[in-house]
Amino acid sequence: MLKVPPGYIIINDNTSTVAVKKEYERPLMRHGISQPERFFKDYISTSETLKGRGPVLSVSIEEMPETRIMIRKYLRGGLVRFVNNDIFLGNQRPFNELYIGAEAYARNIPTAETLAAVSIKKAGPFYKCYLITKELTSCSDLPQYLKKLSKISSIEFSEKKKEVLVKTSETVRSMHNKGFLHADLNMKNILINSLIPENIFIIDWDKSIFKNSLSESEKSSNIIRFCRSMEKLQQQGIPVTEKDQELFLVSYWKNPKKASVDLEKLKQTVLKRKLIWKVFKN
Ligand SMILES: Nc1ncnc2c1ncn2[C@@H]1O[C@H](COP(=O)(O)OP(=O)(O)O)[C@@H](O)[C@H]1O
Ligand SMILES: [Mg+2]
Repeated sequence: MLKVPPGYIIINDNTSTVAVKKEYERPLMRHGISQPERFFKDYISTSETLKGRGPVLSVSIEEMPETRIMIRKYLRGGLVRFVNNDIFLGNQRPFNELYIGAEAYARNIPTAETLAAVSIKKAGPFYKCYLITKELTSCSDLPQYLKKLSKISSIEFSEKKKEVLVKTSETVRSMHNKGFLHADLNMKNILINSLIPENIFIIDWDKSIFKNSLSESEKSSNIIRFCRSMEKLQQQGIPVTEKDQELFLVSYWKNPKKASVDLEKLKQTVLKRKLIWKVFKN
């Protein structure tokens, strides 16, 4: 049995199962959201945006002229993707992500509103899966935001970068204090509104968990993961430095001792990973 958060309903037909937020049911169903593959086929002949590691489409909805939606198709990672890249055993994954994303939104964590999750039965217990969120407009991910920002004067850049990193650490702390452990906390899952940079969003709740409270070690490994992404992106030309990692940790913990313990752990994990990154560039 699929569990959906309050305010969502499940619609089943032959092969598709859709969990959709009630107020969006009509416009999304009429737009054909129960068969999302169609959008990916159409994409080839249109100029809709395609971002991210897997296919993420930005789509307009006739009945909601003010709103654009993002449709993400789940793709497999690892070596198995060379055999089959979009068929999953079971269909829990998008519904779990919808559940946690909706809980985060309901608890005022700044994130995209999750509108629907869809699974399409292919054969036996095998499915294709999709997630639909409301597009956060005028946003860039944190690495791209900093890259654009770095084109301005260097003093202004370092001030603004500091502001945005401090604000990100506060947003992550508040997320943790509300019991959310993000499974892929990295710079690309932080979006910044380019017009109002105080508006920072955490996205991509795939495999994340939500519980009463997080232990200090869970928080610590989550933010170390975030700082590791800074290190990795620095090597790809994103203007962040070791000082920025330190700033993030100090600002997160508001306790120099805890920050320096994590900084030390970070250095150890970075040393190990640097070699791996060198071997598998990207
Ligand atoms: N609701 C959204 N609004 C704006 N941009 C989004 C939204 N969802 C995804 N994106 C963009 O697509 C990228 C990939 O989406 P994400 O959900 O992080 O999937 P993945 O990391 O698996 O590719 C994000 O980094 C972001 O740039
Ligand atoms: Mg992501």
